[in-house]
Amino acid sequence: MKSMKNNVALPLSFFICSSFFLLNNAAPENKIVTEVCQKVREKNLCLSSLSAEHAGQDAKDIAAVGLIAINVASNNGSAISVFIKNTLVDREHLGPSVEQNFEDCAENFDDAMQELDDALELITSKDFKNLKTEMGAAIDDADACAMLLNQSGGKDLELFNKANIFRQLCSIAYDIANIVAPN
Ligand SMILES: *[C@@H]1O[C@H](CO)[C@@H](O)[C@H](O)[C@H]1NC(C)=O
Ligand SMILES: *[C@@H]1O[C@H](CO)[C@@H](O)[C@H](O)[C@H]1NC(C)=O
Repeated sequence: MKSMKNNVALPLSFFICSSFFLLNNAAPENKIVTEVCQKVREKNLCLSSLSAEHAGQDAKDIAAVGLIAINVASNNGSAISVFIKNTLVDREHLGPSVEQNFEDCAENFDDAMQELDDALELITSKDFKNLKTEMGAAIDDADACAMLLNQSGGKDLELFNKANIFRQLCSIAYDIANIVAPN
């Protein structure tokens, strides 16, 4: 009986060890992503949003991390644009000033999405200086929308919060461009 227990125990502990190893390996932390995220203002959001991307696992240089950051911001912004447009379909439920703010925010987000498209081309050609300008413009668009929504009368907390997260995602790509091209 005793020897049978041992026979089971060894493979079992091996199994537990290896599945722990596999589990740990499921989302390997990419050293470059971790290093870059330490240098941006939104460290936690940088780590969580970029590590969640499959591409984040094999980023090999800072430009690759920047490209992922732009893609993350762009996907987030597209989803917010859809949210704004869907909300405007049911516009009778919005007060007039909230409705106007959603209309204006829709334009801000359209502009921001265009800037992020341009940003993708700029990072592909490693033009970090113009990338900073483009990301700065996207941040300004997110701010313009958030400021409207933060005014009394036209408040909408849900879109306000979404716009602020989008702004933070844009700021990560901006900070990465600024690390490469500080002047
Ligand atoms: C935008 O990104 C944030 C942070 O990753 C996430 O919590 C949020 O759900 C995203 N918003 C949309 C509309 O996809
Ligand atoms: C929102 O408005 C409050 C005052 O009503 C202000 O203190 C705060 O800084 C504003 N936040 C943003 C992001 O504009």
